[in-house]
Amino acid sequence: MKQILVTGGAGYIGSHTAVELINAGYEVVIVDNLSNSSIDSLDGIEKITGIRPAFEQFDLVDKDKLENFFTKYPNIAAIIHFAASKAVGESVEIPLMYYKNNLVSLINLLECQLKFGISNIVFSSSCTVYGQPDQLPVTENTPRKDAESPYGNTKRVNEDILKDTIAANPAIKGIALRYFNPVGAHPSALIGELPLGVPANLVPFITQTAAGLRSELKVFGNDYDTIDGSAVRDYINVVDLAKAHVVAVERLLENKNKSGYEIFNLGTGNGVSVLEAVQAFEKASGVKLNYKIVGRRAGDIEKIWADTTFANEELGWKAETGLEETMLSAWLWEKRVRGME
Ligand code: NAD
Ligand code: WQD
Repeated sequence: MKQILVTGGAGYIGSHTAVELINAGYEVVIVDNLSNSSIDSLDGIEKITGIRPAFEQFDLVDKDKLENFFTKYPNIAAIIHFAASKAVGESVEIPLMYYKNNLVSLINLLECQLKFGISNIVFSSSCTVYGQPDQLPVTENTPRKDAESPYGNTKRVNEDILKDTIAANPAIKGIALRYFNPVGAHPSALIGELPLGVPANLVPFITQTAAGLRSELKVFGNDYDTIDGSAVRDYINVVDLAKAHVVAVERLLENKNKSGYEIFNLGTGNGVSVLEAVQAFEKASGVKLNYKIVGRRAGDIEKIWADTTFANEELGWKAETGLEETMLSAWLWEKRVRGME
């Protein structure tokens, strides 16, 4: 059984990916410092799959601990690197923390790959590297733009670190996956997204408002050049997203990659406005959402969605879940977390 290291595997996307890897027959080892997650997600993974992944709690910035880890686990076949700090606003306040955590973690992993002979890595990148693209939808060849935040810049720089390291070391192969907006939860409602404090992202804010934790959703802007004036994004179901990681790992393990470093967009290909997202939630949950339109949020882009052709045809992966089903999964998770049923 091939052993896969999932860094950040106690977090939102990592826990869903751990489930899909286990379902596909892989042995999962999670490293997480629990800086933005809870050990409870391991219980969720175990309840869903019947298997509790191995878990090591430490900070990837600590190189000695990482080397000790690879000595203890000499058979890791591939790494999926989710672990990172991801709050855009916080990254503007504390840029050094973001650069240190996100850059040093990846550098340490790559150095260990060279030292311990681990060929394969999948890296969590983001559509944030495109900024506001000049043409829509965005393909993988759409030029990247200057990052809007230190967080976004860590994704851009980490992509470059990966690309340059692979160019200099053909023993390493890597895939950068550029996620659009991951939303929803596992249909079992046993794992999901659990933001600390007031959510910055749309869907957790919607579900917390519906659950009564927030009085109203503020819709940031209705004067964009979009279908209804609210901003447009490509909301991708987290289980669909998780499955793409299994495909990416298989691609590397089976040497199906066409070059040492590859990039894939992971989205649905559909642009959805904030108001359409609210409507989809209301329809799926049967709950009327209290919302109000306010001014634009600083730093927001107007619209972005993915061209999924390359991921569909070359990676052989396609998003399958509709937005209403995804919204329902987010709502069932919120209700379970709040003890509402
Ligand atoms: P998350 O915060 O839920 O998961 C990240 C996990 O990494 C957490 O469990 C955290 O405790 C852990 N972690 C952070 N720094 C660490 C370190 N130095 N050592 C060990 N563990 C560490 O976030 P997520 O939403 O699951 O995101 C996963 C990845 O996907 C991140 O790299 C993120 O930047 C990227 N991404 C997320 C989104 C999104 O909207 N959620 C979009 C695009 C890209
Ligand atoms: C979605 C839409 C908001 C909250 C962020 C990061 C990006 C990536 C994904 C990691 C926007 C609107 C939101 C609210 C609202 N993460 N909104 N009221 O901004 O597309 O992307 O997460 O890489 O880097 O920047 O996602 O969920 O914050 O917002 O109206 O209370 O919902 O204005 O149009 P975003 P989001």
